[in-house]
Amino acid sequence: MIRSVILGSGSALPAKVVTNAELAQRVDTTDEWIVERTGIRQRYIAGEGETTSSLATEAARAALEDAGIDAKSIDLIVLATATPDNTFPATATKVQNALGCNGGIAFDVAAVCSGFLYALTTADSLIRTGTAKRALVIGAETFSRILDWEDRTTCVLFGDGAGAVVLEASEAEGSKRAGLLGSRLHADGAQHDLLYVDGGPSTTQTVGHLRMRGREVFRHAVVNLAEVLGEVLEDSGVSVDEIDWVVPHQANKRILDATAKKLGIASEKVIVTVDQHANTSAASVPLAFDVARRDGRIKSGDLVMFEAMGGGFTWGACLARM
Ligand code: COA
Repeated sequence: MIRSVILGSGSALPAKVVTNAELAQRVDTTDEWIVERTGIRQRYIAGEGETTSSLATEAARAALEDAGIDAKSIDLIVLATATPDNTFPATATKVQNALGCNGGIAFDVAAVCSGFLYALTTADSLIRTGTAKRALVIGAETFSRILDWEDRTTCVLFGDGAGAVVLEASEAEGSKRAGLLGSRLHADGAQHDLLYVDGGPSTTQTVGHLRMRGREVFRHAVVNLAEVLGEVLEDSGVSVDEIDWVVPHQANKRILDATAKKLGIASEKVIVTVDQHANTSAASVPLAFDVARRDGRIKSGDLVMFEAMGGGFTWGACLARM
């Protein structure tokens, strides 16, 4: 049986850090409010010359180096983003050209904050059907460019960044052997108006700004995430106690805590980077994963659950043995 093994990871952040105190000089907010309601202390914001594709390329290079493989052997790039460099072509094609692995498959997926889960599942499917052998799966965003910097209810929550993993086809069976073990994705288009961008090429011909009804998003998030994690565990024949690490989408520390509590997962097993990065949408899961691999927490043989929920709504979870 073919399965996808994670060979390496990498991440990239813009040079500029913006603290809560700095934001408080711009909108009517306080460090105390932001920390208490979200757990966020700072975020990285892209400057001139830093784009979704430049951050994605830097993260991809780091992942290739970590995996110890040459970019030329990559035959698939799936890039998750809601903030592409251009409406078209796909930002993945820019990354492909920058890495010098032209000729293989390269495309973007749009599932906002669940984008990395959608991209990982798509790449895994293409690997398991034999269409690709080695893939780069990237989540990259410059959300700072679609924020309404006058709206204190949203502009304090997001940041920019990128994360990437390298997947390789491998022959293996059983939940003790390395590879992606199970994945579930969902969407519910009826919830469009709770989290969306009020612009786009086909409607307003403008880029638009992010709009969100935060309290309602929060309520749905905990229920949906707990449900989808349960589905993946059942599909994979793995119990919740066997999970070594949960790498969740980093939207809000309170969502992370509430979801872990609902599932009976110890908070020490949950990777948290929202304090440092804020919500980087599709980049947040691979960024947090890379941080925890590089600091030695996530090790070979560990069982890792990825999960995310975002605009659409979309949500999903994926289980991997390292
Ligand atoms: N600084 C100070 N006060 C703020 C503020 C800010 N940045 N943003 C909102 N407030 C105020 C509100 O105006 C409101 O004031 P009011 O009671 O006088 O009307 C008060 O704080 C409470 O607002 P509320 O929206 O109820 O707060 P909350 O506890 O729900 O926290 C979020 C708001 C956005 C942090 C929270 O709902 C959340 O994280 N939701 C999920 C968002 C998310 O994860 N989105 C991404 C999914 S991918």
